Formats: sequence, structure tokens, C-alpha cells
Amino acid sequence: MSADDQKKSAAMRAVEMVEPGMRLGLGTGSTAAYFVKLLGERVKAGLSVSGVPTSDATRKLAEQCGIPLTTLDEVTELDVTFDGADEVDGDLRLIKGGGGALLREKIVAMASDRVVIMADESKLVEQLGAFKLPIEVVPFGLGATREMIEVLSSDAGCEGEISLRSTSDGKPFVTDNGNYILDCDFGRIPDPEELEDSYRFIPGVVECGLFIDLCDIAIIGGEDGLQIIEAQKDDDEDMA
Ligand code: A5P
Repeated sequence: MSADDQKKSAAMRAVEMVEPGMRLGLGTGSTAAYFVKLLGERVKAGLSVSGVPTSDATRKLAEQCGIPLTTLDEVTELDVTFDGADEVDGDLRLIKGGGGALLREKIVAMASDRVVIMADESKLVEQLGAFKLPIEVVPFGLGATREMIEVLSSDAGCEGEISLRSTSDGKPFVTDNGNYILDCDFGRIPDPEELEDSYRFIPGVVECGLFIDLCDIAIIGGEDGLQIIEAQKDDDEDMA
């Protein structure tokens, strides 16, 4: 089974969790796109839901699929967000932002009662960090911000090249929020909580792609079928 088929089967399982009337966060990336298309089919068949997209790309796709959309100004709390991830560890800590949508993804995830992550099995890792950690930064003061990231990351045990994400024509990649992305090639992140905390001291950092204590359920598509991993939380309900 290809990685794409694994993503699709995870999305197929996830869309079954959607119930009438739910207010949904709609993630970004190829796995989330499978979910949005499948959700669109259910909406066409009569399901009534509303969604908050995490990127302009997802908003366009959701509109094409006929999914009613809303915003976090109209609806400040969501029932469930369905999104993809770049890495997932055994404690359901994530790296996200490969698609550059990490800020809106984190805002939407924080506003959600539950977060369901869908992924292919290549995303499941023992330790976070092989995927370059994306950090969204404001363009002003980029050099100084990068240097502070280097120093504080090193204090948290993370060293490696930090590069400005660029587009195919060599220009800086600009997020939907008008910011830049620094991709940090740490290889391994020994203490994700400490690293995330340390970035809060840097004024030019808008958000980093570490998602900790946000994911409730991961649906992982694999060669041998689906694996469903649930977070160990006191108030957990059995959603899967
Ligand atoms: C988007 O910014 C990311 O957080 C995506 O969720 C992540 O890159 C996963 O993408 P795929 O589903 O395309 O693998």
C-alpha cells in the first residue's frame, strides 16, 4: 500500500467520526485534503456540519466540495479538528508545518475539544526531529531572530542548520499570515516541551511547529491496516 493509500484510508476512518451538527477544524496538507473531499461527499449526501479551514488552500478546497464554512470569530469553540502531521511520536507529540500552515493549525487545534491526526505510517517516529522543525517568524529582524533561535535551541540540546524556507523561484516562502518560515534541521529533539517553551522568549517567533498535548487521537494508515492511538487523558472519551 502506498503512502497515499495509507493517508486515504486514515482519512476514510476519520470521516466516520463526524456527527451531524459538528463544528470542525479542517487541516492542511495532502492527508487533510483527502478528509475534506470525503467530508464533502457526506455533506452532499445531507450531513450538516460547519468547518473552519486552517489555510487559504483548504478554504478553497472546502468551498469546491460544498462544505459550509465559518470562522473563529463567529464560532469560538470547535468540536473536532481533523489534520495531518509531519511527525507523530508515541506520546502523540507532533511536528507540523511542512505545508506552512502551522500557526492557523495551532490556533484551530487549541480552539477544539478534540484533535484527530491522520497520517501514513512513515510519520510515526520514536523521537521527533528528523523532519526539519518549522518555525513561523515575522520578517522584521529575521537575522536577530534566527540567532536567538540558534542559541536557545542549543541550550535545549538541539543543533543543526536553520534555513529560510523559499519557493521554487528562490523567493522567501510567505505564510497565509504574511510571515516567513525557518526550517530547523535538528535531527533529534530530546526535550520537545523545553524547546517549545524556550521559543516563547523570542519576540520575532510567532509559533513553532511542535504540537504538544494537543492531539487526542492519531489514526495511522499502514501496510497491515489502521492503527489508532489515543492520548492518555483523564477526561478522554472513546471517540474512535
Ligand atoms: C501543514 O502545514 C502541515 O502541518 C501538514 O499537516 C503536514 O505537512 C502533513 O502533510 P501531508 O498530509 O501532506 O503529509
